[in-house]
Amino acid sequence: MSDKRVRLALIGCGGITRAHLNGYRRIKEKEPDKFDLVACCDTVRENAEQFATDIEAMQGMKPRVYTDVEELLKHEQLDGADITTPHHIHHTAAIACLEAGVNVMIEKPIGVTVKATKAIIAAAQKSGKFAATAEQIRRGPMQRTAHWLFNENKLIGEPRLFFAQHASWSRPHQPTPWHWRVEKHFGGGGMVMDSGAHFCDTIRYLFGDVDTVYARVEQLEKRQIKKDDAIIPDSREDTWVATLNFKSGLIGLWSYSTSLPGHHFTHVVYYGTQGALVDSGDVFHGPFAGAYLRLPNGRTRRLTELHDEFLETLSEEQKRRLFPHGFTEQFTLECYDFLDAIQNDRPPEVSAEDGLKAKAIAEAIYESAYLNQVVSVQDVIDGKVENYQRDVNERWGL
Ligand SMILES: NC(=O)c1ccc[n+]([C@@H]2O[C@H](COP(=O)([O-])OP(=O)(O)OC[C@H]3O[C@@H](n4cnc5c(N)ncnc54)[C@H](O)[C@@H]3O)[C@@H](O)[C@H]2O)c1
Repeated sequence: MSDKRVRLALIGCGGITRAHLNGYRRIKEKEPDKFDLVACCDTVRENAEQFATDIEAMQGMKPRVYTDVEELLKHEQLDGADITTPHHIHHTAAIACLEAGVNVMIEKPIGVTVKATKAIIAAAQKSGKFAATAEQIRRGPMQRTAHWLFNENKLIGEPRLFFAQHASWSRPHQPTPWHWRVEKHFGGGGMVMDSGAHFCDTIRYLFGDVDTVYARVEQLEKRQIKKDDAIIPDSREDTWVATLNFKSGLIGLWSYSTSLPGHHFTHVVYYGTQGALVDSGDVFHGPFAGAYLRLPNGRTRRLTELHDEFLETLSEEQKRRLFPHGFTEQFTLECYDFLDAIQNDRPPEVSAEDGLKAKAIAEAIYESAYLNQVVSVQDVIDGKVENYQRDVNERWGL
């Protein structure tokens, strides 16, 4: 391992940056010399100042504070930047960093659109630095176990079909207060591509690429946003039903609605040819620790039990790679991978290309609904289908 101490900046100091910082804190406790957080950048100075104060308490040295990415890059010699800004800023911040020779890790859903994501990838290729997607979910012990189950252990055979369904009822009595997330040009879309980015990455991780998609995406309850003194329509979906056809032949049904009164349920089951993995929790962030296997003979096995078996199959080197220092917290693992990739001049586990392929599943869902036809995920990646995303691309000059 290289003894290079990584010089890191946080770009964006908001809600999820706190989870990243907690990850860096856990890493610092185990490997104090691995990195220094040298700068915090947020357009809201108080946000950056607050993080800088907290980081000083953690590492003894206060990071310098910036309110502009260009200023940050002009004054700092960085090895990496962890980007946790709103979606429409991801590509501009990442490209500026890459052009300055700085590796980046960018929160999901990587670019605000496919075009934005491809611009990040092009900048990384040109600079020789890497762009990682900050995707923590697949790194959890249950996700690693599920990956082993479906790809190596095969206790429930070959993946055949899954249902990931949620129905609930949240009638909008008041307009949602404005925030970047609620306006399409800033957020890029609703939950299909926001929390949905995690599910799209997980199903790719477990089952490989999706070939085609057919989807309906709807807003069943009229929803509104309060922006300054105006009330404007909220364009985000509250409902979708998507059929996902994987290259492997696996079929997935992913559906979600918060506009269904009377009967609420969450139902996530992955069927193989010889049994099922029944999950609990939600349709975005699983499999969860409560998940269990059901076999045709009526036997059940908890996923947590299988996790112990999975760990026994791992070499010491594999354990160090998947759970360095015994970490199991997902953000800690994500941040560790980023730092370690910089230190050892290796690719990160979840590249920008991986982020693009996961993102393209979500965008294919929107595009299919927009066109009311089956859409190829590769066509979305290639830019041959760009109807839903066009106004966002135009807004940001992409
Ligand atoms: N991995 C997860 O589980 C998870 C969960 C929540 C959010 N996220 C992702 O994290 C990112 C941020 O989401 P959030 O909920 O923390 O948002 P947030 O609004 O809480 O924080 C964003 C921060 O970025 C700052 N910012 C805005 N423009 C900037 C710019 N040009 N330069 C520097 N800073 C700027 C804002 O002032 C704010 O402090 C999004 O990509 C979101 O999808 C991921």
